[in-house]
Amino acid sequence: MKVAINFNQKTSHDYTVYINELSSLKFDTKVAIITNPKVAGLHLKRLLSLLEAKEVYIITVADGESFKNQKSVDFILENLFNHRLDRKSLLIAFGGGVIGDMTGFVASIFQRGIDFVQIPTTLLSQVDASVGGKTGINNAYGKNLIGAFHQPKAVYIESSFLETLPQREFGAGIAEIVKMAVTFDKTFFSWLEKSDLHVKAHLAEAIKKSLETKAWVVSQDEKEQGLRAVLNYGHTFAHVIENETGYSRYLHGEAVSIGMHMANMLALSLGYFTKEEVKRVEALLHQYHLPTRYHIRDVEKFYEGFFLDKKTYNATIKFILPQGLGNFIMIEDVAKKTVLDVLSRCGEDGEVA
Ligand SMILES: NC(=O)c1ccc[n+]([C@@H]2O[C@H](COP(=O)([O-])OP(=O)(O)OC[C@H]3O[C@@H](n4cnc5c(N)ncnc54)[C@H](O)[C@@H]3O)[C@@H](O)[C@H]2O)c1
Ligand SMILES: [Zn+2]
Repeated sequence: MKVAINFNQKTSHDYTVYINELSSLKFDTKVAIITNPKVAGLHLKRLLSLLEAKEVYIITVADGESFKNQKSVDFILENLFNHRLDRKSLLIAFGGGVIGDMTGFVASIFQRGIDFVQIPTTLLSQVDASVGGKTGINNAYGKNLIGAFHQPKAVYIESSFLETLPQREFGAGIAEIVKMAVTFDKTFFSWLEKSDLHVKAHLAEAIKKSLETKAWVVSQDEKEQGLRAVLNYGHTFAHVIENETGYSRYLHGEAVSIGMHMANMLALSLGYFTKEEVKRVEALLHQYHLPTRYHIRDVEKFYEGFFLDKKTYNATIKFILPQGLGNFIMIEDVAKKTVLDVLSRCGEDGEVA
């Protein structure tokens, strides 16, 4: 299966996402694979058996979001220079979103930009992070605040890499799939409700559907000046939750799951979503053991947290809310009182009231 990424404004090159088609990779250049010890231990042998290139180097950085930083970037760059990679060389990102974002960023700055290929190995990076060209690292001021738009040359999705993925990481990826369905595609949402994504063929179909949605969004709005912001549905809330819990209690996708439920509750209170729809989305998230409720101790403080997000310009909060299943609305003028009221009810277990 293939998904084409074609840009409306030809500032970036078009490319292809290949799904379950990785049989061989041939490059007439030097190649450096950027990975981490966990992914290398599990899957590098297989990748190397498929790869042919002039020279192949392996650069391993420590595993984890806390290593998505300038220090790791410097380490990778140093290795590239030591191995004498040049402007024609190619990087391969082999790992989850952390490796993908960081490799893409290094590719964007090494000798003013070289090609890179994404081979994502988590569900989250397969359905979301590896496509669209957002690259970057974190610093003391926040997540992904340093980076560049740099599109990969190609993306290879292999669902067999997911066989070693822990269940929680799998669920985290599902949250991003649900995100695409709720905001853009009602038919896809209904299909998800009745399809078990632990079944291989269903998963491949869900990956393809999500990528088609992402491809369409990114082709309309590569640099996030409008439509692409819809992919942040649930994220405005999730970022505050991640911040409050020190990025340790929840995986990103789990925080997004809670964030989507919060967005849905807000949409319900504003009349854009029915109680039935809130329940359907929550039930789907629960099928994959995703959390949806989070008790906020101080709703005022949580609200203040929205303003720390780099996507909150000019002190207004732009909420991305579902408007019926498969549709969205971007809305800026929600009364603070309405938001606080919803936030104060989001931690309650049980029936949606
Ligand atoms: N660029 C974008 O558009 C975009 C979109 C969404 C998220 N992101 C970024 O992606 C990152 C999150 O990505 P992630 O969820 O993939 O996290 P991750 O890269 O940290 O991977 C999660 C864990 O799974 C391990 N792992 C990877 N593949 C595995 C496999 N096949 N089997 C077993 N374990 C495996 C990793 O080593 C890691 O420990 C965040 O930094 C986020 O900012 C970027
Ligand atoms: Zn996300």
